[in-house]
Amino acid sequence: MVTPITSIDVKGKRLLVRADLNVPVDKGRVTDATRIDRFARGMKPLLEQGARLVILTHYGRPAPNELDPGFSVDKLRPALSDALGVPVRFSDTCATNAAVILSESLHDGQALLCENLRYNPGEAANDPAFAAALALLGDVYVNDAFSCAHRAHASTEAIARLLPAYAGPLLIEEMEALTNALERPEKPAVAIVGGAKVSSKIAVLKNLVGKLDAVIVGGGMANTFLFARGCPMGKSLHEADQVDTVREIEALAAKSGCEILLPTDIVCATAFAEDAPAVTVPADQCPDGTMILDAGPESIAAFNARLNHAHTILWNGPLGAFEIKPFDQATLQVARRAAALSHEGRAVTVAGGGDTVAALNAAGVTGDFTYVSTAGGAFLEWLEGKTLPGIAALMPPKQAA
Ligand code: 3PG
Ligand code: MG
Repeated sequence: MVTPITSIDVKGKRLLVRADLNVPVDKGRVTDATRIDRFARGMKPLLEQGARLVILTHYGRPAPNELDPGFSVDKLRPALSDALGVPVRFSDTCATNAAVILSESLHDGQALLCENLRYNPGEAANDPAFAAALALLGDVYVNDAFSCAHRAHASTEAIARLLPAYAGPLLIEEMEALTNALERPEKPAVAIVGGAKVSSKIAVLKNLVGKLDAVIVGGGMANTFLFARGCPMGKSLHEADQVDTVREIEALAAKSGCEILLPTDIVCATAFAEDAPAVTVPADQCPDGTMILDAGPESIAAFNARLNHAHTILWNGPLGAFEIKPFDQATLQVARRAAALSHEGRAVTVAGGGDTVAALNAAGVTGDFTYVSTAGGAFLEWLEGKTLPGIAALMPPKQAA
């Protein structure tokens, strides 16, 4: 198991904290501070106990060595200072003597943010020399970036071997919520898996059908399932080369007694455009020249009826083209049902991954979910059942037999 940073006396120590402050920014201002706020919530008590925070993060995917100022993390400082409740100082480098001197000048309860890790090629290369230079910035290392734990980078992997390594509060919160929902869910447990492509979620589907009681498949990937059953596709997005994969997933599900629910009616339009004239037809009757953009009302009712019996609901990916009306209905109505069940205390609801949070925000239900992960790619890899390198690096080394 990982050791929480909250288990040690942090007073006077320089905590070298890997955060994920990779947040949306528009015209130099943070437009969604969720990751910053969730990170800060766990750090504030440590600051109050006299910790000295040296914060590392990446932002975007800059070309290493080019130092494109657009990727500077300095612009995150106002939002971070607000969230932490202390003015955050800034080091315009992260693995230099100057940064070390700044880290050593911190007093108890103060915080320093270091420049974008990804300006240095050593970060993504998991370079031990870069990690060793970073390690000089702290007395102990804290990984609080669950959403980066799928990356074996210097600041998430190599560094954990160089300093006493601890797990931060947000990382622990994420791990517990996801473990409870996936590894020991209260049954019946149902997953909702949407999004465009089967091919990007093969491993997720294979893992989930082996563990849960039902999987609701929606979005573009449901088209491929329908196609595998011989349904016409018109102009719909689907992956003809994934038919064997779909059959394999269905066989695995049958073997483990997991029900797969697909749309039984579909909303089709001639164009992927706001308010395009739409028809609702049975799932095997997509008209020529149209594309499937959402699940229909009969499907929504069936999905929601299945959720009514669930005690655990896991959600990744939208069920239709939720960004444009009127093709947002399956996503919105199913999100609202899950949120209501959660609100009434009837089900534990856990969501995460890329578009999912945007979809829940659009439905206005994020606050009712039991847990909404801050992770995109890391959430997906967790659903695949993979060991995340950033978490593995926090585990104590195995004793030789
Ligand atoms: C994310 O936003 O998903 C994380 O910050 C990881 O970013 P990356 O996909 O660029 O590694
Ligand atoms: Mg990502």
